[in-house]
Amino acid sequence: MGLSKRARNIEPSGTQAMTQRIRDLKRQGKNVLAFSSGEPDFPTPEHISRAGQEAIDKGYTKYAPVAGIPELKDAVCDHLKETYSLAYKPEQILVSNGAKQALIEAMFALLDPGDEVIIPVPCWVSYPEQVKLADGVPVLIERRMEDDFRLRPELVKERITPRTKLMILCNPDNPTGGVMKEEDLRGIAELAVRHRFYVISDEIYSRLIYDGHRHVSFGSFSPEVYRQTITVNGFSKAYSMTGWRLGYAAGPKEIIKAMSEIQGHFTSGANTPSMYAGVAAIRGPQDTVEQMRQEFDRRRKTMVQRLRGMKGIRTNVPQGAFYVYPDVSSWFGKKIGGKEIRGSMDFCSAMVEEAGIGLVPGVGFLQEGFARITYACSMEQVIEGMNRMEKCLGAN
Ligand SMILES: Cc1ncc(COP(=O)(O)O)c(C=O)c1O
Repeated sequence: MGLSKRARNIEPSGTQAMTQRIRDLKRQGKNVLAFSSGEPDFPTPEHISRAGQEAIDKGYTKYAPVAGIPELKDAVCDHLKETYSLAYKPEQILVSNGAKQALIEAMFALLDPGDEVIIPVPCWVSYPEQVKLADGVPVLIERRMEDDFRLRPELVKERITPRTKLMILCNPDNPTGGVMKEEDLRGIAELAVRHRFYVISDEIYSRLIYDGHRHVSFGSFSPEVYRQTITVNGFSKAYSMTGWRLGYAAGPKEIIKAMSEIQGHFTSGANTPSMYAGVAAIRGPQDTVEQMRQEFDRRRKTMVQRLRGMKGIRTNVPQGAFYVYPDVSSWFGKKIGGKEIRGSMDFCSAMVEEAGIGLVPGVGFLQEGFARITYACSMEQVIEGMNRMEKCLGAN
């Protein structure tokens, strides 16, 4: 009797734990500002919502093809071609319930027990857990703030073994906000081809890039790299569509076919009205994406500037996504609100209890010493949150 080893092996998500703690405190009447969840505060653009509503009105409320409706797969192909010069055919596209589902299905399609998966850390909370669920073994590469969290090919090379089957890249990156340099991507692409491992390129933040940096899609380097790459993207971040649960993967036909068969047994595919909304998102006007990006950029600059003025906080300048990832380790061994800070979990607990702001501890991203703060919230909240944090740290 009891839970499976697989279920017992899962680490709870640090992001969700903090979101729950904030919810609990709010229910108790506490004034807490959440900087923890990676969800844009903007509404879904109106024309996209309307397309979803129209789909319901027209009766598109039944099962759809497992890999997605043809209209959406065509739209995704056109988008990848126009934006990243990536040529995919509809049979190379799988539409999923959010990018998250595409990621784990790619792992289920590619991994055998004991296969190694290289993951740069800090990393998005779900990668190592998904790898474990698919019976793979996460192999971590530490990135350092002093090197602007760069993932240099030399670091990757050190971790390659005969069991390396897959590598996960998150570009732009959650939680550091880094945008990978083309030379680093090219070097990793060469390693992938030479040592014959697949790469999942999670590009969900590809539309949120600042300061003139450029996003290069990993699969675009050469035909060989293209054949070893599963590109994952989605609608949650760029179109503020988190609750619609819509994402996709693009890759070699046989891998997409396997993922689609797996999806057929998991969920039977993404939900039908959402897919029609997704077509409107890709085919419709893109000005809302740019408006949101510009607003994120303003908040990013404010947050970085404010954090840099705070006692015991160091931060680099994130170039993409909507997170700042400051080093808070100089507080370790000191006290906040009378309690000793032994790590990032204690630091974030102190911030929620003493300053009324919810951040995510770096340990949740498998790196001690940091905290993730999102600016996917209003400018007023950014300013108020930074005021609270500054005051709290200044008084300790
Ligand atoms: C790096 C990364 N990949 C994937 C996802 C999942 O996105 P979706 O809502 O499309 O499942 C997220 C969401 O937080 C993310 O940060």
